Amino acid sequence: MHLQDILYTQGFGTRRVCAGLVQQGHVIIGGKVVDDPFADIDPEGLQYTVQGTPWEYHEKAYLMLHKPAGTECSQKPSTYPSIYTLLPSPLRLRPNKGAVQGVQAIGRLDQDTTGLLLLTDDGQFIHKMGSPKHHVPKVYEVTAKHPVDEAQIAKLLAGVVLDDDPKPVRAAACESDSPLHLRLTLTEGKYHQVKRMLAAVGNRVEGLHRSRIGDLALPADLAPGQWRWLAADEVAALRAPAKPAKSGKAPK
Ligand code: URA
Repeated sequence: MHLQDILYTQGFGTRRVCAGLVQQGHVIIGGKVVDDPFADIDPEGLQYTVQGTPWEYHEKAYLMLHKPAGTECSQKPSTYPSIYTLLPSPLRLRPNKGAVQGVQAIGRLDQDTTGLLLLTDDGQFIHKMGSPKHHVPKVYEVTAKHPVDEAQIAKLLAGVVLDDDPKPVRAAACESDSPLHLRLTLTEGKYHQVKRMLAAVGNRVEGLHRSRIGDLALPADLAPGQWRWLAADEVAALRAPAKPAKSGKAPK
């Protein structure tokens, strides 16, 4: 693949801009400047540097972001900065069928929720992950306002009715190891679901953090605001059918 085309697919601008970056000596591969935009390069597994920043080639982009509090998962935020401002511009400018589209968040977290957020430019993957048939369990660490008791856990596991749907929603798992902490596993993604479920059992969410999606845990070394590529086996595990979650226990 021509080097200028590789850069174009990775979001570095139009083919003309990419050709300019190459000709001006801004692209390094294997420790050497490559200044021919038409150099024929195998993109598979390619590691390269553009204007001093190291990159790796990804035909499709799959990433995780540690969402910090006070950010909105919208391209057009109303009050807080967008999570997309945390990503380098090539990730926001990757082309899709000739148009600039960039990566998109898979589902949304509230502005005050922190934790694991996945992003991709693979529309089919977004569709699959959002499909009700593909129940990927998501684990939320809840800081509750009031001590959590056995009765609340039993109700969350049995199912609670929210105001927009008569069908009860239940936690796939629910455990509490200290009075104000609850670990809740959900397989759906309704609007404000955790906050509304806690309210339905007479409690209130004071802090909310998503720690896991399927087998993928938020790494301890990924600080709030940081992102990283997902490895191929992590993407494959997310695509695989979901495993059932364990149920729950209250604090002693
Ligand atoms: N449930 C909520 O209430 N908020 C989130 O951000 C995610 C799940």
